[in-house]
Amino acid sequence: MASSFLLSSVAKRLEGKVALITGVASGLGECTAKLFARLGARVVVADIQDHKGRVLCDSLGPGTASYVHCDVTKESDVASAVDAAIARHGKLDVMFSNAGVAEPRQKSVNVTGVFLTTKHAARVMSLAGRGSIVITGSAASTTAGLVPHAYT
Ligand SMILES: NC(=O)c1ccc[n+]([C@@H]2O[C@H](COP(=O)([O-])OP(=O)(O)OC[C@H]3O[C@@H](n4cnc5c(N)ncnc54)[C@H](O)[C@@H]3O)[C@@H](O)[C@H]2O)c1
Repeated sequence: MASSFLLSSVAKRLEGKVALITGVASGLGECTAKLFARLGARVVVADIQDHKGRVLCDSLGPGTASYVHCDVTKESDVASAVDAAIARHGKLDVMFSNAGVAEPRQKSVNVTGVFLTTKHAARVMSLAGRGSIVITGSAASTTAGLVPHAYT
């Protein structure tokens, strides 16, 4: 009862929204893209694994999802992904900066990648005067010694 109420209130908040989600070829990003689409958002899904990203996109439907190749460590890719969302849908309501790795490019993907996605989402959201930037975190950020320092 409580969970269906929660889901319906989230659904209302995502209906008609446009979300750009990075790291969608598997795991948390893939699940989030499916959930957002189910709850009425239009999603632009981004990854470096083009085939998997396109398969996900096809499964969500052409009016709902579109794929863009984006290596979050490359600023030109990130800028193009944000611009693609604006060109396709006229706005960007949500940036979900989720792409991340456990090894070995933690600093470039988990740190620089998050910086670049935040920077370019803010570029269009500040003009619009609204938007949400969500960044995947980890319990490892509040503990020490479980994973390498760069990941923490
Ligand atoms: N799975 C967990 O238990 C867990 C727990 C805490 C935090 N996290 C974090 O959540 C995030 C996602 O984890 P996951 O388990 O879904 O991982 P995953 O490996 O299943 O998915 C990560 C995705 O990111 C993509 N990716 C990697 N490098 C990229 C790049 N340079 N540009 C664009 N996309 C890139 C991969 O292709 C993949 O699709 C990571 O940041 C991870 O550190 C995961």
